[in-house]
Amino acid sequence: MTGLRQISVGILGTGSAVPDVVLTNKQLEDMVETSDEWITSRTGIKERRIAKEDEAASDFAYKAAVEALKSANLKPEDIDLILVATITPDMLFPSTACIVQDRLGASEAAAFDLSAGCSGFVYALEVGCQMVRGGYKHVLVIGADVLSKVTDYEDRSTCVLFGDGAGACVLGEVEEGFGILATNLGADGSGANVLCLEAGGSRMPASEETVRSKKHFITMIGNEVFKFAVRIMGQSTLEVLKRANINPEQIRWFIPHQANIRIIQAAAQRLGLDDESVYVNVDRYGNTSAASIPIALDELVKMGKVEHGDNLLTVGFGAGLTWGSAIIRWQEDVK
Ligand code: ACO
Repeated sequence: MTGLRQISVGILGTGSAVPDVVLTNKQLEDMVETSDEWITSRTGIKERRIAKEDEAASDFAYKAAVEALKSANLKPEDIDLILVATITPDMLFPSTACIVQDRLGASEAAAFDLSAGCSGFVYALEVGCQMVRGGYKHVLVIGADVLSKVTDYEDRSTCVLFGDGAGACVLGEVEEGFGILATNLGADGSGANVLCLEAGGSRMPASEETVRSKKHFITMIGNEVFKFAVRIMGQSTLEVLKRANINPEQIRWFIPHQANIRIIQAAAQRLGLDDESVYVNVDRYGNTSAASIPIALDELVKMGKVEHGDNLLTVGFGAGLTWGSAIIRWQEDVK
């Protein structure tokens, strides 16, 4: 396939899936020295969903994908490419996208994973969009993470933050003037050590010592991530608004990465958005990494709150460090 088609690409359907098991702040009080009051006031999180022992990223990715296909009115064979944004794949290889491809029976689809931390979904959205322009008709984009599997439940500075789940959408051609109007992606690899999982890769393969020293768990310098997030969410959203030639007042829904209510409020304030246009579900799910934005989007769509012509602004930040934002003009009932 050569040359990019000058077509508009948008979201044809959405889906999401979260584990059944709920872990509340009260339960965490029995596990580490923390309090519901501390977690609520510092993060806005009240509870999160946690995968069972035998559940992995592909289980939630698959369920979200089935829903997204249904809402797009498409069959698995209609999908040309599956992209899974994740930092907690079922295995290092093969990709989680290949596992999902097999379970769906999406026999015509190519499949690969993309790693950009909590910005993964927005990265995948942009890659998927360009692949549609390159000739792939329908691209299934999934954000799926099960951070509970790499979280140390003896470390109060991280274990209160994360939850598990997946969200998905199908991308395809939409009417001119609709769909993904603009994106802004970026990275600053000098911040790699601020948020990472050190062991299990080729730099530090698994050993008795890596297990003993808890190097298979997330480590994070929380306040560094916090400062970065507040700065970059403001910068990236202003840039993407400029690229789309849209004012903040024209945004119907701001759908930010759900990491911390204080970060979300700071970003909304910078843009001058009122509470009514900011979607928040961090209280129910915590930070679900690459799944957070597509879960939020799917909830809004299912509640019937996204209407034809609405401008959606989404922004993520995360490990890398990375960031990504996008503006989507919603088109109803594209078939
Ligand atoms: N319960 C009680 N006290 C706690 C807890 C807890 N769960 N966690 C930390 N504390 C303590 C600290 O030990 C510290 O105590 P000290 O002052 O005696 O040393 C105190 O609370 C304040 O700690 P800070 O880190 O300064 O608290 P802050 O207000 O910055 O909030 C938080 C911490 C919530 C982690 C915040 O920094 C944050 O949200 N950062 C962003 C994290 C994030 O979004 N990460 C994910 C990125 S996405 C990805 O790619 C996976």
